[in-house]
Amino acid sequence: MAQSTPHGAGFSTRAIHHGYHPADNQGALVPPIHTSATWVFPDTAYGARCFAGEEKGYVYTRISNPTLALLEGRLASLEQGAAAVVFGSGMGAITATLWSMLAPGDEVLTDQTLYGCTFAFLHHGIGHFGVQVRHVDMTDPAQVAAAMSDKTRVVYLESPANPNMRLADIAAIAELTHARGAKLVVDNTYCSPYLQQPLTLGADVSVHSMTKYLSGHGDVTAGAAIFADAELAQRVRLVGLKDMTGAVMSPQDAHLVMRGLKTLALRMDRHCENAQKIARFIEAHPATERVHYPGLASFAQHPLARRQMRQMGGMMAFELHGGLQAGIRFMDALTLVARAVSLGDAETLAQHPASMTHSTYTPEERAAHGISEGLVRLSVGLEDVEDILADIGQALDSVHAAHIGAGPRRAAAAGRAATI
Ligand SMILES: Cc1ncc(COP(=O)(O)O)c(C=O)c1O
Repeated sequence: MAQSTPHGAGFSTRAIHHGYHPADNQGALVPPIHTSATWVFPDTAYGARCFAGEEKGYVYTRISNPTLALLEGRLASLEQGAAAVVFGSGMGAITATLWSMLAPGDEVLTDQTLYGCTFAFLHHGIGHFGVQVRHVDMTDPAQVAAAMSDKTRVVYLESPANPNMRLADIAAIAELTHARGAKLVVDNTYCSPYLQQPLTLGADVSVHSMTKYLSGHGDVTAGAAIFADAELAQRVRLVGLKDMTGAVMSPQDAHLVMRGLKTLALRMDRHCENAQKIARFIEAHPATERVHYPGLASFAQHPLARRQMRQMGGMMAFELHGGLQAGIRFMDALTLVARAVSLGDAETLAQHPASMTHSTYTPEERAAHGISEGLVRLSVGLEDVEDILADIGQALDSVHAAHIGAGPRRAAAAGRAATI
């Protein structure tokens, strides 16, 4: 029988060992990958008992599988949940969870800023099936309390939010959500379990795109939902995963995520260290109008970040003087930093939310939800920070040179126009 890590074991010890003992697998240090899609019943009665939920045996990998179960146990341990369910993508985790928790006539209350596909799912997906979606400014718990109604079943937020880094006070919002009998779901993708543990702050469900930090190498698409309540986890598995989305994760991918988990803490430490230096550098550059990074003293919610996050993360967003054109010039000038969506990889990635991850919003929706057209999002990688700084520095210099160059040109053009 697989043994768990000793009581009180640290984060990395659990990320590496939890739920597995080599003696169960002929001494194999690394857990085997169970690729079987189906499981053989010793007799018909046993199979029937499995289907009736009276027997815990494996039946079919879309419901459960030993490799997936090992990963689920590790995730539950790392975020101090009662149970976890893994999925073939972050959107699989989010949609399966919300399909299982909401019914026609219910209302979901959510922040003004959300990852583009989550926004699209709420408005163009589940919103078409009788679920009402309302947005409120979740940086202010009082506004959340005022917006809740008797129909509110789920409060859903990201903290930090993708892409503009807004934070929500998870403990305060959990308390007022529960006071109205609703449940709080937090997308914890930007932090990973190492930097923030929403369930310990009172949330009911923490969802992740494991495509990001948890796998960490840009070679897996995967998701997870971690639950304070094991019964809700089972409902999401048997309804949201099995029947409504079928968004099952492959055992091979679960193996890759478990490999990534072994270095999660080390990688996050380095992401955070690099990001702090880069945020300070970008903020001090004359091309920059504003940097959104929780680790900067200028970040309005810096005290909240210090309270609910272990470190300040590897993600940031910034606006340059010159808006959209300056953002595009910056992106196109990069040579080491890759122009790519996704985040949490070893490579530093830059993207433009308005034309990429948040193009699911209309321009009016972006304006209303605080996603400016010129915003650039940066996922700080694990390269030597001097090299990232050099690349960002030359790209900012080129933006700045164009901006100050544009001043006299604009003035000259205006002068010509005036003389005609
Ligand atoms: C915050 C956040 N949540 C969820 C997702 C969706 O995850 P996936 O792409 O694995 O479906 C993403 C993807 O970028 C994300 O950034």
